Amino acid sequence: MNCCVTGLQWGDEGKGKVVDILAETSDFVVRYNGGANAGHTVVIGDSKFALHLLPSGAVRQGVFCVIGNGVVIDPDCLIGEIDELAKRNISLDGRLFISENAHLVMDYHKLEDQLREDALGKNKIGTTIRGIGPCYADKILRSYALTVSDLLDSDALKAKLEQIVAVKNKTFTALYNAATLDAGKIFDKCTIYSKRLVPYAADTTELLHKAIADGKSILFEGAQGTLLDLDHGTFPFVTSSNSSSLGMPAGTGVPAKMVDKFIGVAKAYTTRVGAGPFPTELDNDIGQYIRQKGNEYGTTTGRPRRCGWFDAVAAAYSIKIGSIDSVALMHLDTLTGLKEIKVCTAYEIDGRRTRFFPSNRHKLSKAKCIYKTLEGWDEQIDDVSNFNSLPKLAKNYVLLLEELLEKPVTMIGIGPKRTQTLTR
Ligand code: GDP
Ligand code: IMO
Ligand code: MG
Repeated sequence: MNCCVTGLQWGDEGKGKVVDILAETSDFVVRYNGGANAGHTVVIGDSKFALHLLPSGAVRQGVFCVIGNGVVIDPDCLIGEIDELAKRNISLDGRLFISENAHLVMDYHKLEDQLREDALGKNKIGTTIRGIGPCYADKILRSYALTVSDLLDSDALKAKLEQIVAVKNKTFTALYNAATLDAGKIFDKCTIYSKRLVPYAADTTELLHKAIADGKSILFEGAQGTLLDLDHGTFPFVTSSNSSSLGMPAGTGVPAKMVDKFIGVAKAYTTRVGAGPFPTELDNDIGQYIRQKGNEYGTTTGRPRRCGWFDAVAAAYSIKIGSIDSVALMHLDTLTGLKEIKVCTAYEIDGRRTRFFPSNRHKLSKAKCIYKTLEGWDEQIDDVSNFNSLPKLAKNYVLLLEELLEKPVTMIGIGPKRTQTLTR
């Protein structure tokens, strides 16, 4: 059985935890999009892992890990993660495969990300400054892009870097009055990248097709969330890859029809980091309550996450875009203690009601939320053992979301630990 896990909101839904659980019965876990902008948390007992580039299956010694061609790799970050796991006695030797065609995020991409954001001032996107946009832009422009396979030929790499740096220096100086880069220093770092990462380089498309032919089970792990998808999210306040499940075939070379099940991960409320529209945002005490109780601070940047009610219009849209079969609903425990809980069931735009999420920013900016209000519950739920043991009002809440989303909620998060997940 092959599965694909994607976020249904604006990222940080708890994909890392869900992937870690599903990895127990998977042979391969595959990242297909994004880069070190992702921060996927896995909590096992008292141990916490925050993974940015390695698939969340990496923490399980028996699982093969693949970084697909659609990912943009920050070599320093990846090497740091491999070393960090090694320190914790988790080896990736012989079980990590990096696509030769994955693009490299260089220091100058991170610098450009920062310079662009600074120049935009109050109009900035609020990126993670991980160089994601500039690296994908170079990929699309082709001529000055670097892939993992470029690390295999040092003479060609040196010549290419000189050409790239000459152009970057001209642009950065002209646009931002920035200090110039030194191609030699960048090349020296690349020799370390070659030494450390080339041993993992592979034709991951061939590898995955062989694995599927051999009956292995593959778990695809999306980064970010559907509403941050470059084409289908809340553009321009999105990331630079297809972070819905639509990115999976392009980012791996495995067609979507080879996936048996698409699982969408959502929080029992909504969060967003960075700028952009957020119709159900709670810029008040309730939002603050959720932020504190849910520990809603970015895994990658530490920024406080914006918090709001569950938006069933947005999540239902993500389900349609992503051909989602079932929903994993995380952080139900975080809502404990609220007197009442609201769910957005429709939008009103220019006096007309709609249940279809408009990704177009001009329409979305006019959306007024229509809410259904439910009574909250007080009982702690972080140690209940099954769905039926949840308080009636918590069960009602899950059942309402199921009805609105028209998909079964098959996993429910009641705490950050691996064990704090109910299945039904
Ligand atoms: P991801 O990017 O989708 O993998 O999510 P993150 O790891 O960035 O953020 C999710 C946060 O919520 C992490 O700190 C998780 O440990 C935590 N978490 C996951 N599921 C639950 C849950 O059901 N309840 C609570 N309280 N925390 C959870
Ligand atoms: P995971 O995989 C939440 C957001 C940034 C910003 C926008 C563009 O952990 O869910 P980028 O650096 O990609 O150019 O930033 O996207 N963003 C995320 N928000 N979770 C993520 O990843 C994110 N990755 C990017 O905050 O608003
Ligand atoms: Mg995250």
